[in-house]
Amino acid sequence: MDYLTQPIDPASERDLSAGGLRLALVDTTDAAAFDGWIRADFRGFHGGRPKEEVLEEARGHLSGRRTTAVYDDAVPAREPVGTANSWIAPLTVPGGERVGSWAISSVTVAPTHRRRGIARALLGAELRTAHSLGVPLAILTVSESVIYGRWGFGPATSATAWTIDTKRVRWAGAETPGRLSFAEPEDYRETAERVLDRAMAGRAGEIGLEPYLAHRLVGPLKGDTDADRYRLVRYDSPSGEPEGFVSYTVKGDDDFTRHTVDVNYLAAATDEALAALWRYLLELDLVASVKVWTRGVDEPLPALVSDIRGAKVTAVEDHLWVRILDVPAALQARTYERDGSLVLDVADDLGLAGGRFRLTVVDGRAEVAATDDSADVTLPVGALGSVYLGHDAARALALAGRIRGDAAALDRLFRTAVPPRLSTWF
Ligand SMILES: CC(C)(COP(=O)(O)OP(=O)(O)OC[C@H]1O[C@@H](n2cnc3c(N)ncnc32)[C@H](O)[C@@H]1OP(=O)(O)O)[C@@H](O)C(=O)NCCC(=O)NCCS
Repeated sequence: MDYLTQPIDPASERDLSAGGLRLALVDTTDAAAFDGWIRADFRGFHGGRPKEEVLEEARGHLSGRRTTAVYDDAVPAREPVGTANSWIAPLTVPGGERVGSWAISSVTVAPTHRRRGIARALLGAELRTAHSLGVPLAILTVSESVIYGRWGFGPATSATAWTIDTKRVRWAGAETPGRLSFAEPEDYRETAERVLDRAMAGRAGEIGLEPYLAHRLVGPLKGDTDADRYRLVRYDSPSGEPEGFVSYTVKGDDDFTRHTVDVNYLAAATDEALAALWRYLLELDLVASVKVWTRGVDEPLPALVSDIRGAKVTAVEDHLWVRILDVPAALQARTYERDGSLVLDVADDLGLAGGRFRLTVVDGRAEVAATDDSADVTLPVGALGSVYLGHDAARALALAGRIRGDAAALDRLFRTAVPPRLSTWF
């Protein structure tokens, strides 16, 4: 599927051109044009001005994505006034299949051109293009949770942030065999990519990472202000199999015994790796606090520490958002922990995925077909995205009036014992 060269969406092109704006794909081999896009992307997220080495690294990392820009040819600025990019990412769904999903990132609009419909045109273009190529799902992570519901995305995983008071807790987990050792990002990168791939394949909600996304979890990107403070520790099983790593920075305090560790990323392909790496972090000397972000809602920390309240959840937030583009393909790709049959009436304002479908699950596998039977459950496509990966969302959405009908049956069929998780941003 050549999503890189698929022509730009004509409807969005027309809408923008009516407002004097031009929608175009960026030729990522044209360094000047690509640099302008990258600068606009950094500015959109209030980042610094990227230096040449940062631009060079970003060009290398991002050139494999479909890169879209909106230009205002009436102004002298070199940068586009709107940016977005997309690529096909393997999303792990319940049961372990990895579904090629349309991942969208770098959605920015110049503050000088806000609220003129540029984001609407960019998102419409992404979704219609993905749909026309037969991609069953679109996915993204969001800067603000109020933006993407209008395009049929629903929050499909929650992420937790934690602060652990390591002076208060002692290790209360099992023995942790295996070996820990420091590594340098350059030497370890290939191994890390294998570890990450294994970890991401094993959990619904995680995505297979492009080299760029994997790179930032292992070590700093160019221009990172904390670059020289990064530490990387790898975990290898007793038989020498690489199964996990943690990258982190340590910051000092007036009191030298009370440093703070910020975990950049903790990757664990096995439970043994997870336990050993947590133990390592909790037992660091001269450290009083360990902070970590984008963990699952089922992070096992309370069971690993001697004092449950010494490991506090500091935030629980929506994280991965899912937009179903093809109901039968999406629902048949995952497995189910119970059998059953339900007629779902799915409403889609963008006219891409709506319809009435009978979902029949036998031995955990689904058959989905269009039907005229009366609906058991009526819901907008965003709510279907919210329950799709097994997330505990159906009962609250029913309470809020967004899922109507037999929400309890929907919940029993879709929810999974292990909640889905996405442990990184993209
Ligand atoms: C978010 C952003 C891309 C929106 O761009 P925009 O071109 O101003 O948005 P549009 O004019 O197309 O707005 C489309 C709709 O979304 C709404 N909307 C857009 N941004 C919103 C926001 N931040 N909060 C609430 N509503 C928002 C608009 O009000 C409009 O609503 P309507 O359909 O009811 O009229 C832009 O504000 C931005 O670049 N922000 C900083 C970067 C960022 O957060 N990007 C998102 C990355 S996940």
